[in-house]
Amino acid sequence: MIKHKGGSLFPSWALAVALLSFVSDLCFIPEVVLAKHADITRHYKFDIKLQNVTRLCHTKSIVTVNGKFPGPRIVAREGDNLLIKVANHVRNNISIHWHGIRQLQSGWADGPAYITQCPIQTGQSYVYNFTIVGQRGTLFWHAHISWLRATVYGPIIILPKHNVSYPFAKPYKEVPIVFGEWWNADPEAVISQALQTGGGPNVSDAYTINGLPGPLYNCSANDTFKLKVKPGKTYLLRLINAALNDELFFSIANHSLTIVEADAVYTKPYKTHTILIAPGQTTNVLLHAKTQAPQAAFLMEARPYFTGQGTFDNSTVAGILEYEQPTTPIKNLPLFRPKLPALNDTNYAANFSQSLRSLANAQFPAIVPQTVQKRFLFTVGLGSSPCPKNQTCQGPNGTKFAASVNNLSFALPTTALLQAHFFGQSNGVYTNDFPSTPLMPFNYTGTPPNNTLVTNATKVVVLPFNTSVELVMQDTSILGAESHPLHIHGFNFFIVGQGFGNFNPNKDPSNFNLMDPVERNTVAVPSGGWVAIRFLADNPGVWFMHCHFEVHMSWGLRMAWVVMDGKLPNQKLPPPPSDLPKC
Ligand code: C2O
Repeated sequence: MIKHKGGSLFPSWALAVALLSFVSDLCFIPEVVLAKHADITRHYKFDIKLQNVTRLCHTKSIVTVNGKFPGPRIVAREGDNLLIKVANHVRNNISIHWHGIRQLQSGWADGPAYITQCPIQTGQSYVYNFTIVGQRGTLFWHAHISWLRATVYGPIIILPKHNVSYPFAKPYKEVPIVFGEWWNADPEAVISQALQTGGGPNVSDAYTINGLPGPLYNCSANDTFKLKVKPGKTYLLRLINAALNDELFFSIANHSLTIVEADAVYTKPYKTHTILIAPGQTTNVLLHAKTQAPQAAFLMEARPYFTGQGTFDNSTVAGILEYEQPTTPIKNLPLFRPKLPALNDTNYAANFSQSLRSLANAQFPAIVPQTVQKRFLFTVGLGSSPCPKNQTCQGPNGTKFAASVNNLSFALPTTALLQAHFFGQSNGVYTNDFPSTPLMPFNYTGTPPNNTLVTNATKVVVLPFNTSVELVMQDTSILGAESHPLHIHGFNFFIVGQGFGNFNPNKDPSNFNLMDPVERNTVAVPSGGWVAIRFLADNPGVWFMHCHFEVHMSWGLRMAWVVMDGKLPNQKLPPPPSDLPKC
């Protein structure tokens, strides 16, 4: 058992990698001994505390983990057990979600507030205990209550098991690149005001790479992420989109990127100049440095892809790729900028997402459900709620903005759904009648219906253990077609098909890819289109599904799946740990 503290960013990571590679490279360990040592328990301590941080010449106190922004890295190997003690020293209630971790039979450690746990209150702590099974690559962790994840997030780096190599040449170095947003205002105040007035919330002031906005913003040149590379070497960039409300294009001037993994699943190598990454998505790319150090430096830039009707932060974050120069001082080099697609380039988005494929080889097969037991059609999109009497509202036509799945705007309960489910106390907390198709079908991507009011409710879909599910998610044009990054907790799913317009159940399934579809935990439902996914409900518990745009989630674009226990002992959800927070 080795101990890590989630302390300073670079030393803990450097140490972990040094340690891990020392063990795997230098020691010859017989198989038997290795097997014993393969899976270990790693301990982290997350202290939730306030920290003063300055960006864009604004200094403010933000909620952090261990005073870090972005937060510390979790580094583990596939198969490892993680024990992460989260102690809350701030006034806000908090919970942490390990985004993309399957949480097989460990649903109590998943983290979404009021879904799998009540939040950790001030002065309290909770130990998240889970094991990483069958996943390797990059994921991330973030706060999962209100908008606290604006500052409370960090990478999860899952290395392959000992003596298992990557399905690509071992990179010279690995570098997390975490996209986030910077808000001069307090994001908690932004969303509470928006929910009060019913209008669209204010937008962020900058995007960030590893917490740094970069030289294209005022007062920010010194806050620039720099990636220094050696000529001829290959770098693995671990990209994470932790931004609240924006899908991002990302490109590096004069360099191409090869995608090799998405959401902690290997992909067929896919070479491109520009990546599109939605909030909640992670992806590993290889960057091959040029063999000769060019007499130049190169900007890496990210800016949004956006098709909605509201305002959005249309600014650009930049970092700098620099080559180690034997002679010339770096300062005098010309700087190249990448060319990014237009902010609303939906064709680029569609081509890009259709290009990704599972690696699907013998060692890493794509186990796509070939038959389907339950089919669902969910509309996802915006809508409105009536304005309360004696109030004026700033949403559409004097109403409040809302968002929904099958026209249901999911109301969060005041107790955790998982507890209610596990102890058979769902009465008054949730009902089992979430509709499997829209109750009032309409031309989803045509002219919207006259009545766009949503219904507020806490409804779930109940699935027997091991149900194979096909879910089509259909964007609506109500208040504008828009891409929605849908995330499912507790599962990966295969993206078997997508298209524009309305899903056609008679025609579209014949084009589904059931061989090597990409496997993810978050998929962007195309703007004005649909996406079809398949998954096997092999994980008992209560699993949140929601748009990973925080603003849409706050408006109700969320629901939950309840997956029942199976018959065998390893198909059941164990009872909750004794320190599970109380409401
Ligand atoms: Cu990363 Cu429920 O979210």
